[in-house]
Amino acid sequence: MLCGPCRLLRASVAPTAALAAALLSSLARCSLQEPKDQVASALSPYFGTKTRYEDVNPGLLSDPEAPQRDPELLEGSCTPVQLVALIRHGTRYPTAKQIRKLRQLHGLLQARGPGDDRPGNASDRGLGAALADWPLWYADWMDGQLVEKGRQDMRQLALRLASLFPALFSRENYSRLRLITSSKHRCVDSGAAFLRGLWEHYHPGLSPPDVSDMECGPPSINDKLMRFFDHCKKFLTEVERNATALYHVEAFKTGPEMQNILKKVAAVLQVPVNNLNADLIQVAFFTCSFDLAIRGVKSPWCDIFDIDDAKVLEYLNDLKQYWKRGYGYTINSRSSCTLFQDIFQHLDKAVEEKQRSQPVSSPIVLQFGHAETLLPLLSLMGYFKDKEPLTAYNYEEQIHRKFRSGHIVPYASNLIFVLYHCENAKTPQEEFQVQILLNEKVLPLAHSQETVSLYEDLKNHYKDILQSCQTSEECELPKVNSTSDEL
Ligand SMILES: *[C@@H]1O[C@H](CO)[C@@H](O)[C@H](O)[C@H]1NC(C)=O
Ligand SMILES: *[C@@H]1O[C@H](CO)[C@@H](O)[C@H](O)[C@H]1NC(C)=O
Ligand SMILES: *[C@@H]1O[C@H](CO)[C@@H](O)[C@H](O)[C@H]1NC(C)=O
Ligand SMILES: *[C@@H]1O[C@H](CO)[C@@H](O)[C@H](O)[C@H]1NC(C)=O
Repeated sequence: MLCGPCRLLRASVAPTAALAAALLSSLARCSLQEPKDQVASALSPYFGTKTRYEDVNPGLLSDPEAPQRDPELLEGSCTPVQLVALIRHGTRYPTAKQIRKLRQLHGLLQARGPGDDRPGNASDRGLGAALADWPLWYADWMDGQLVEKGRQDMRQLALRLASLFPALFSRENYSRLRLITSSKHRCVDSGAAFLRGLWEHYHPGLSPPDVSDMECGPPSINDKLMRFFDHCKKFLTEVERNATALYHVEAFKTGPEMQNILKKVAAVLQVPVNNLNADLIQVAFFTCSFDLAIRGVKSPWCDIFDIDDAKVLEYLNDLKQYWKRGYGYTINSRSSCTLFQDIFQHLDKAVEEKQRSQPVSSPIVLQFGHAETLLPLLSLMGYFKDKEPLTAYNYEEQIHRKFRSGHIVPYASNLIFVLYHCENAKTPQEEFQVQILLNEKVLPLAHSQETVSLYEDLKNHYKDILQSCQTSEECELPKVNSTSDEL
């Protein structure tokens, strides 16, 4: 990729000292910004929660800092008064568990003796050997941490949002920005990288200071809000720690679609099929995605799979998200009520302040969390719901499903509520309107399919969740029968 200032440098003749300095600094910025890769894998659309943000927003491939203005965004007589954003952390390293499985698979390949290279298929023999030699870049300490690319994801998102909503992100309003994050490193670091992006927006060309000097209080860590799933007893007992709750995931792992891939991969890699299982196949697929997202290389791990395999492995990933974070069990989404209500408390407060002609105390609220934070919330709101549940047995029927996690929650995915104040409103209700953006595109409202809603209508549509969903009750385990108390 060529980025403007670099081209300028090459074309320039005898620059003055000042110009040279300016060019040098933009060159430095350029090399930082220049994506390490223009490598795309044919498998990229199937990486599920390990999808790169730019694969969902291809416009960003050529210029990741240019705002992608959705033509449906309100403008004119409606001005944004508040933005509440839920942001998934940027690109991350594999978890320690994934790294352990990868090492196991790699060991299996390295243990193949020369005797295992049965004569017959030279090209296939090549792949097993290539993978045995392909270095494992991943070490235990990396355990799910944010990578440099993930910092860029956040920095660039900040720059785009700041250009899209210049008044909200004005310097004056920066001091009123609120940042809430999950305690996980990758989320705290994502928040910091986002703020650095904003700093750059205010001081183009200067390198940002430490986050601690950024005149925006320390991030407030709130796991009850951003990792509500860890705090919901009913979810933990009935789903997370329940061996049978993910029945369909386990059944699909041993079902015909996965068995075909297992047999094929065993043949391609020349390892006994009994040494492989669905988890190892999945980690090979993830490694293809990690090598692409983190290192910008198309790794030989990708060569194991064709597109049909990728679709099956995507389904396996989606099945798990569906049963653990989506519509599979009601408690998955109900456990996010508090977060949903929290968003509306911010919006309510802004509306009240505006009605009293006071400045909005928190024009920008940023909340950093996980795919596991966003999926339950989107399910609670009724998005991406298929007519039939995703099961181990309806892979074919679900080929065109709505619930595709790669399209919904790639790295750096974001769900943004924009509250507008509209002039010339005929009724007081029309004064306040809302748009919801998912990954910077306007998300039609679940109740009307419109791209904008009166704030009152939206609250009315979600009345039940706003009024009758108390996490303390939803997350309580069904009472054990103890009649003795009542006697
Ligand atoms: C700060 O944000 C408010 C919206 O809450 C906006 O009306 C105002 O113009 C912004 N301030 C500046 C200086 O842009
Ligand atoms: C070798 O592998 C290729 C690709 O997997 C396949 O198309 C071909 O039929 C195989 N050849 C033999 C002799 O097995
Ligand atoms: C575990 O999940 C299964 C399937 O949903 C359910 O029938 C069972 O009651 C759950 N077990 C517990 C302890 O909640
Ligand atoms: C639970 O309580 C109900 C009435 O409150 C009673 O009829 C039932 O037998 C009790 N069940 C058990 C398992 O104790």
